[in-house]
Amino acid sequence: MEISGNLFHNGRVIEAGIKIEDGVIKEISKNINGNRVKGLILPAAIDCHVHFRDFEEKHKETIKTGSLSALHGGVCLVIDQPNTLPRVENVESYLERMKRAKKNSYIGYALNIGLTRKNAEKIGDIIEKIETEYRIPAIGEVFLENNDKNLQIDYDVLFKTRSRLSKLITVHAEDPAMIKGKESPNYSVRPPEAEITAVKKVIGKGNFHFCHVSTYTAARITGNSASTFEVTPHHLLLSIENFENTSFANVNPPLRRENEAESLLRNLESVDVIASDHAPHTVEEKMKGSPGFPGVETVYPLMISLVEKRIISLSNVVNNLTTNPARIFGFEEYGGLETGKLANIAVFDLSVKKKIKAENLHSMAGWSPFENFDAIFPQKVILMGIEAMDDGDVLIEPGEIYKRHNIGKHLK
Ligand code: DOR
Ligand code: ZN
Repeated sequence: MEISGNLFHNGRVIEAGIKIEDGVIKEISKNINGNRVKGLILPAAIDCHVHFRDFEEKHKETIKTGSLSALHGGVCLVIDQPNTLPRVENVESYLERMKRAKKNSYIGYALNIGLTRKNAEKIGDIIEKIETEYRIPAIGEVFLENNDKNLQIDYDVLFKTRSRLSKLITVHAEDPAMIKGKESPNYSVRPPEAEITAVKKVIGKGNFHFCHVSTYTAARITGNSASTFEVTPHHLLLSIENFENTSFANVNPPLRRENEAESLLRNLESVDVIASDHAPHTVEEKMKGSPGFPGVETVYPLMISLVEKRIISLSNVVNNLTTNPARIFGFEEYGGLETGKLANIAVFDLSVKKKIKAENLHSMAGWSPFENFDAIFPQKVILMGIEAMDDGDVLIEPGEIYKRHNIGKHLK
């Protein structure tokens, strides 16, 4: 397969073509003219923080529906989180989930292993066993505070694990002692200081990846350290003021004031990763206050719309959504339009602007915190050289990319 047009290569847009063979980019050259496409040819995104639920929470989302939603949003690889029901905290549940993904996922699928109080002593052995077969991106969903006390990890468990293992650890940094309760809306009881304090306590103890940083202060502290961090579109673009006290505003960490979101967006150049933290709950559950926002389908389209408006730069978005997560989570065959990398491509026509409407999205959540926001969705998505989506039409079956290719351990 060959496609050509305006493509993002080595930090800038050039007019050239891509030659693809066996799912891999063979050559990028100005002399390749095959199948000229309109729009910007970009690497497809890696969303390194999603909750695809499934198991006993199929009413919220499944790997099939979550990955379909991701495909429509130009995402080629997700890193799913282990706070499922039951949790992914041992070899058996990890393998079971990967088996499901192989059958049901439209896109590349990777999974973090959960650290809990129960498995903390054995986590090294668990990782070793799984990694004979699959690549584990990180130890995930490490909550310093959680309603479920089995999921909550004490600082000393976290620090001991850090000193014993070399595996990347992703931390949800909110200091338990500073959280004042479980009331809704949760921003009234989970202050910004809880995040800043937790980041300060953790940061000197080794390298971590901080999930969904919501305050400019925590972003600045993390940005000046050897650790990495992600921000979400909702902490960049939404604030308490958007919601007027309804339970739909609930997300952990909470939305902050408008000036906080503005500071984060203004400093996007210093952010390592943008991730959706796609955390679907049904409308009924949201009315009762469940924390979390769907977002895997809208993360790239929202950011490309900000590029079109010249609010952020294209290279910033591509770095944050492709190159950096590939590097941080160890997926070196992903993350850029370069010879030798997988041909995972999303084509965006900047003249086709849409308003986000939940009814047009593919997650089971059935609502979006970004309703009516401007977005530019991909016109075309190519996964490992296979045309997977074209103008809204899905051209592959679930599990198809796994059957057609066997590239990389995580896709076994
Ligand atoms: O809002 C959130 N929802 N934050 C989290 O950290 C977990 C997530 C979920 O799983 O629903
Ligand atoms: Zn999460």
